Amino acid sequence: MGADHAAGGPAAGIKSNDPCWCGSGRKYKRCHRGMEGRVLEGRVSPMLTVPAGIPPTPYYATGVVERTDERMVKSPEIIAAMRVAGRLAAEVLAVTGAAVAPGVTTDELDRVAHQAYIDRGMFPSTLNYHEYPKSICTSVNEVICHGIPDDRPLEDGDIVNIDVTGYIGGVHGDCNATFYVGSVDDESRRLVETTRECRDLGIAAVRPGRPISDIGRAIQQHAEAAGYSVVRMFVGHGIGQQFHMSPSVPHYYTPDASTIMEPGMTFTVEPMINIGGWREKMWGNGWTAVTVDGSRSAQFEHTLVVTEDGVEVLTPEPA
Ligand code: MF3
Ligand code: CO
Ligand code: CO
Repeated sequence: MGADHAAGGPAAGIKSNDPCWCGSGRKYKRCHRGMEGRVLEGRVSPMLTVPAGIPPTPYYATGVVERTDERMVKSPEIIAAMRVAGRLAAEVLAVTGAAVAPGVTTDELDRVAHQAYIDRGMFPSTLNYHEYPKSICTSVNEVICHGIPDDRPLEDGDIVNIDVTGYIGGVHGDCNATFYVGSVDDESRRLVETTRECRDLGIAAVRPGRPISDIGRAIQQHAEAAGYSVVRMFVGHGIGQQFHMSPSVPHYYTPDASTIMEPGMTFTVEPMINIGGWREKMWGNGWTAVTVDGSRSAQFEHTLVVTEDGVEVLTPEPA
């Protein structure tokens, strides 16, 4: 699947005990043998700054996130503020997605997004969140989530998820989408379209009086019927004045997700769906999750609010 990473690849005839082509100093067989075609960790540029006029998140200065006793059900004023934050976050996602092309680095996508937040008076929620260093997440191919933008140029045939979260009016808006880089193979396209459908079927299951577990049931049924698996380690989340809070929104069925949905509850639905198995492993940077088997993973995310008779998406795609 895919071509070798532009930063390197094995020389013809490389042997198991030769030094790895990546420069690690380890033997090829103990390093990159069998990993060709996988996404490699690149170089991360210094953290960008935001103009002083844009109110920062409460954790930006320290990187330490303090929990508050925020309710799951929001006031009409908070919901109104989240409608604004959500609409603007969706605009940043669209602007950044339009910059996706072969040869563009994920660091360049981060710069495009960073400027798009600033243009809208938003503060990037991810900046220094638990010390996360960038303004978006960019997750390529087998990266499940929390890819850190770096100097890897996108390659023709890649898929890349861009996850945008912005803070304005004291609240967050969180959304993501998976984009095609140049011409993408049919199986990857089926994965991406199925994942979008999973997100939308999960949202369609939102209604007051029903348990959160209805959402994961709908998503898992659709993903598994297509022959795919649902990531378990990462879940949707309550959101508002805090970036991540209760409730937890698993994208697979579990009776543990027993919270009853009520009008005014705000949370995300953001399924990560894999072509192969659901298991993840973490990169050494402590953030980035990839599929254990190297199979591709896609994701789509909306922030939403439960209404009297169903659901309102707070991060609608700009018309
Ligand atoms: N936006 C992601 C989500 O959907 C969270 C990113 S947190 C970060 O919940 F620190 F990794 F950026
Ligand atoms: Co989210
Ligand atoms: Co997100």
